[in-house]
Amino acid sequence: MEGDLQVFSGRGSTALAGGICDALGIPLGQAQVAQFPNRETRVRIEENVRGLDVYVVQSMCAPVNDNLMQLLIMVDALRRSSADRITTVIPYFGYARQEKKTAGREPISAKLVANLIQAAGADRVITMDLHAPAIEGFFDIPVDHLRAAALLVGTVRDMELGPEVVVGSPDAGGVARAEDFSRRLGAQDIFVSFKKRTSPDDVAPLQLVGDVNGRTAILVDDIISTGSSLMAAARSLKDRGAEHVYACAVHPDLTEGAVGALQGSVIEGVLVTDTIPISNSANGSSKIRVCTTAPLFAEAIRRIHNHESVSALFS
Ligand code: R5P
Repeated sequence: MEGDLQVFSGRGSTALAGGICDALGIPLGQAQVAQFPNRETRVRIEENVRGLDVYVVQSMCAPVNDNLMQLLIMVDALRRSSADRITTVIPYFGYARQEKKTAGREPISAKLVANLIQAAGADRVITMDLHAPAIEGFFDIPVDHLRAAALLVGTVRDMELGPEVVVGSPDAGGVARAEDFSRRLGAQDIFVSFKKRTSPDDVAPLQLVGDVNGRTAILVDDIISTGSSLMAAARSLKDRGAEHVYACAVHPDLTEGAVGALQGSVIEGVLVTDTIPISNSANGSSKIRVCTTAPLFAEAIRRIHNHESVSALFS
């Protein structure tokens, strides 16, 4: 790797950024990212970045607003330090579930976040499995939108769940994602569990479409937050005769309580990625397995830095 590339990390992605740097064979850039006593974000870039191709890795996970501000302030610091090009690497793009108005007098927060990132001085964005792919269009700078599907499917294949596997979505909005996953896995058909959200942290299953009787069902989603969507769908699957139920999701945006709830649920295993660092309790869970996205992000960075095509990484 050439010497004019540098990767920095906000506090939302320290471990993943370390893995990315290991894969690139470079040390992580030195930066102080802390808080003033009044909790304002304090950043200082501790090495010369003049003329460099710089990447800032920062997920917008909890504490979301602090992590977002760190990202914006790091970009501002790098811009004022004369970095040549600044790419924000946002493994988990927060506020993505607020990408449209669902009622009058609501904001479009995802658009506001995109505006803020550009206004701070970012030249490009690399992200993964946006909840709403249309968010790419909220930016007027290049966005490389990576997908974790190949990684997750490869891991599921290694789990050798048998021939009677059926893949599905816990809601209508995820059908295309489930279809793609099923096709990659070589499974035969899909199921859909329709849900009704009764509150921000609870859902009620409405109907299950598809034949799951006697089969191993894999629920595929982009985000796990409270786990309610997956657990409600899993109960329906069991009621309809599914022999085993597993779940896969890209972003483990786990709320407090989600790990315990998933541990006590009928779901036998939950596969996620490291776009969001998981807590110690999730690390100790016998059901949750994490596969790393570091090599994929590293390869995207390598290709962008070397002006090579990254489109092969989108599939
Ligand atoms: C919603 O449309 C998303 O794709 C996920 O299904 C949702 O964010 C999961 O949230 P929870 O785990 O709280 O049900």
